[in-house]
Amino acid sequence: MKVLIVGSGGREHAIAASVAKSPRVDKIYCAPGNAGIAQLAECVPIGAMEFDRLVTFAKEQAVDLTIVGMDDPLVGGLVDVFETEGLRVFGPRKNAAILEGSKAFSKDLMKKYNIPTAAYENFDDADKALAYLETASFPIVLKADGLALGKGVLICNTLEEAKNGVKTIMLDKQFGESGNRMVIEEFMTGREVSVLSYVDGKTIKTMTSAQDHKRAQDGDQGLNTGGMGTFSPSPFYTKEVDDFCRKYIYQATVDAMAAEGRPFQGIIFFGLMLTPNGPRVLEYNARFGDPEAQVVLPRMKNDIIDVMEACIDGRLDEIDLQFEDNAAVCVILASNGYPVKYEKGLVIKGLERFDGKDGYYCFHAGTKRNENGELVTNGGRVLGVTAKGATLREARENAYAATEWVTFDNKYMRHDIGSAINEIE
Ligand code: AMP
Ligand code: GLY
Repeated sequence: MKVLIVGSGGREHAIAASVAKSPRVDKIYCAPGNAGIAQLAECVPIGAMEFDRLVTFAKEQAVDLTIVGMDDPLVGGLVDVFETEGLRVFGPRKNAAILEGSKAFSKDLMKKYNIPTAAYENFDDADKALAYLETASFPIVLKADGLALGKGVLICNTLEEAKNGVKTIMLDKQFGESGNRMVIEEFMTGREVSVLSYVDGKTIKTMTSAQDHKRAQDGDQGLNTGGMGTFSPSPFYTKEVDDFCRKYIYQATVDAMAAEGRPFQGIIFFGLMLTPNGPRVLEYNARFGDPEAQVVLPRMKNDIIDVMEACIDGRLDEIDLQFEDNAAVCVILASNGYPVKYEKGLVIKGLERFDGKDGYYCFHAGTKRNENGELVTNGGRVLGVTAKGATLREARENAYAATEWVTFDNKYMRHDIGSAINEIE
């Protein structure tokens, strides 16, 4: 069969690598893709938001299944457009992708269905938000309602900071239209865990857990980024935590969406915080995490096409979802200066050492070929170096060893991805 993947990051490279393993697939396209994905797929220069062109392409090439990796086209309704055209597509419809697309929606959903999350209020008026802050306790968390590239969350320690935050989000519109509404919520403490899941509208099957490192520098210092590395599984995601989430969060979310007339088919990503009072939902995403996908998908034993088709057809209960009993660590190689200012076009060398080496992957995020055909950097996050190991410690050693194989000017990485292992051993 022919598969089209929509997106261009490390997540889409990891999805493409899983799809390429399926014996059922003989051709992969990716729109728009990147230089790494181009080793597995034919990349076509169509943007993820060019819905009409994507439909035309899928029809012309007789694509059998389209997988939407990114949040923007999902929230914008690409799945609905494909379905209307009679095309088979994996991902939530617009009315379900709102689970990620509107934080105010997801908070109201959790409140209505008693799903554990931080206490909050929604605001669509800056004056009311400012008045509310006068009686609030600090720190407090401000969130722009809509998509904001993971940047629309402000943690404010004082009233003054919070007032400035309301101004930034609602009046200065630093996150654009996403700031027309905002959520103000209670600050929680604890360790964060990401749990991704396949959902077919009624059944949910969770994948192995992972943890992201969002800050730019070691020790969780510096600015928030799209993610500087991940490890899987999280040793803090214990059986007890899993039992709690199964009882109060996972199925409850799927049932709530169905009850609202918004059945969710696709990936639900649960961003959880393990607070002293038990697990709480920090956020939902309607897609694979990036770079969570880079440590979760390589450990999945199932044929990803079988699982995705079961989601589309409402047969997920028939799938025995299985993960390898090992660990994986992904270290992001970035361009020094990310997430603020960095150079592009720097020549990358050493990737041939990954070829066919069991348990080692180099997923491309921001790369391209220059006019001489050389592989060069084309973004802040450049590559995701992933390695497996029997244990988290071994995976971590393998991943960091593999980061040494790769060279480019201004190469930057964190050195403490997966170091949580030191806290428990
Ligand atoms: P979100 O996009 O909602 O996941 O928020 C981004 C990050 O902000 C999370 O990964 C947390 O580190 C932090 N965060 C969000 N909400 C809260 C909260 N209520 N309390 C503490 N930290 C939070
Ligand atoms: N790694 C967090 C995200 O994909 O949103």
